[in-house]
Amino acid sequence: MPRPPSIRPLFSAATLAARVSELGESLAASHADKAPLILGTLTGAFMFTADLVRAISPHPPGLSVDFLRASSYGAGTVSSGEVVVGGGAGSLGTKVPITSRHIILVEDIVDSGRTLAALKRALESAGAASVTVVALLDKPSGRVAGGAEADLTGFTVENEFVVGYGLDWDEAWRGLPYVGVVES
Ligand code: IMP
Ligand code: MG
Repeated sequence: MPRPPSIRPLFSAATLAARVSELGESLAASHADKAPLILGTLTGAFMFTADLVRAISPHPPGLSVDFLRASSYGAGTVSSGEVVVGGGAGSLGTKVPITSRHIILVEDIVDSGRTLAALKRALESAGAASVTVVALLDKPSGRVAGGAEADLTGFTVENEFVVGYGLDWDEAWRGLPYVGVVES
């Protein structure tokens, strides 16, 4: 019988919290007068988004929060490169309108950069005034031509599959309070 995979801890809850706090301070300063709309990317960025919103201090007047979904189609851990944003048919599926807003787009991890490129295009088409991307993790070894980059990154990771703090492996391990590497 195959042995179940185990998780090697990489970034502890305390390490994550300290970095999220720095990112929050930086965004509070850059967006103080911009009434930013924080857009978390479902599902992987839900936990990071929740902590980041609380870390954006002092709280910019007019700040609002919403979520959108990006799905990349492919088998297992390999993406096919086709990315669908939101509800399809041109709808991003957010409740809060995007037009003329200064968006802080929150991602869990940038790997090939294709998801981010599709999200940025969709937000620009929807009339965002600006888009600032903050990604908890960056995996530069995965980047492809045409892939987009985050403006702010929490941590850089090697070419390994990471889970926890919202990130999953086939829907498992999202709830871990730390980030770790899947080892089989
Ligand atoms: P990209 O389009 O290749 O940049 O992939 C981005 C998406 O793939 C992320 O938002 C994650 O949902 C997923 N992903 C990429 N690498 C990992 C990983 O190491 N662990 C968990 N999810 C990942
Ligand atoms: Mg994702």
